[in-house]
Amino acid sequence: MIRLDKLLARSGFGTRKEVKKLIRRSEVLVNGQIVTKDDIKVSSDDKIIVQGIEIEYQDKIYLMLNKPDGYVCANSDDVNATVMDLLDFVRDDIFCVGRLDKDTHGLCLISNDGALSHQLLSNKKHVEKEYYVKIAHKLSDEDIIALEGGITIDNDEVCKEAKVKVISDQEIYLIITEGKYHQIKRMLKAVDNEVLYLKRIRMKNLILDHDLKEGQYRYLTDEEIEDLKA
Ligand code: URA
Repeated sequence: MIRLDKLLARSGFGTRKEVKKLIRRSEVLVNGQIVTKDDIKVSSDDKIIVQGIEIEYQDKIYLMLNKPDGYVCANSDDVNATVMDLLDFVRDDIFCVGRLDKDTHGLCLISNDGALSHQLLSNKKHVEKEYYVKIAHKLSDEDIIALEGGITIDNDEVCKEAKVKVISDQEIYLIITEGKYHQIKRMLKAVDNEVLYLKRIRMKNLILDHDLKEGQYRYLTDEEIEDLKA
């Protein structure tokens, strides 16, 4: 159960104060009855209509977005567009589960499930994140051994072991289990290389849907959510 005014605010009908005004103007109906109090509690089973439009409220939200270049993983930003601008709804309780850099593409998981987020991001859980990486130069065998063995970046930060799968001279898949700041870029820099293009394609067993064009998103299936939580 959730307070109606909180639910409406989360659903994009303005601040709690603005929502209270809607209620006072008799513009909100719950199960066919005009609402007169803003502190009533509702559940997902209740039929809520605001200004003639039925709203669908989901308590827990899980969606995958194919992030394009140029968007920051943040709820708001004074300068840049954010991944939240790509959603066709507004909620104040959702966040990116693990941030990608502004110029990184691919799988961005958006949710309001703090427990799942902790589970996926905690360094202790060793959850795999897989990236497709275009690089400036061919990796040598020594580079691969260094990257896989736990490379030291910026002279003092030691990364956990990683996996490198070579696709071609200038393309690799890189699997890491942590999320240090600019980690992949700094790992490649540590072997005198450079990332030209970076795309996250998997988190744990959640694979970026090939049908999603950049900027598009979809809700996770129940099975995908269960697999992520397992
Ligand atoms: N590593 C990076 O360098 N950037 C990202 O966005 C993700 C991982």
